[in-house]
Amino acid sequence: MKITEGLLGEHALSYELFDQVEAATDDAASLGEVTALGRVLSRAVASHMALEHEVLFPALIERGQVNGALDVMRADHKEIELLAAAVSAATTLAEGRGVLLRLLYTLREHFEKEEQFLFPICERTLGDQKLNELGADWAKRRGLM
Ligand SMILES: [Fe+2]
Repeated sequence: MKITEGLLGEHALSYELFDQVEAATDDAASLGEVTALGRVLSRAVASHMALEHEVLFPALIERGQVNGALDVMRADHKEIELLAAAVSAATTLAEGRGVLLRLLYTLREHFEKEEQFLFPICERTLGDQKLNELGADWAKRRGLM
């Protein structure tokens, strides 16, 4: 399996997670509930982003793909980490809810950017053989083989 297919599958499940977290955030009655939701969300996406940083991005850089796309992705990841930290640091329910909803918005936008721009760049730059090799690394890291 190509790594882009594995990551895309993770996106599909993540969109479901985002919807569930958003609904639970709307229903949350305390700041503790909101920060717990933020922790679940940020841990789930942190492992996804780590796979991109450690498996996908180095392969793109090796093939000379060092233009703006990777900078945009890295900047998005940084913003996502900062928003996740801001959810943990929130001091009121309204603040925590507002930041968590902003984090969800940023995540959806970022994932769409990856699907529209990053994954097509990977397909063009890396080719099927490399994408399949990286897919095997991805599966190993996810404990699938
Ligand atoms: Fe990403």
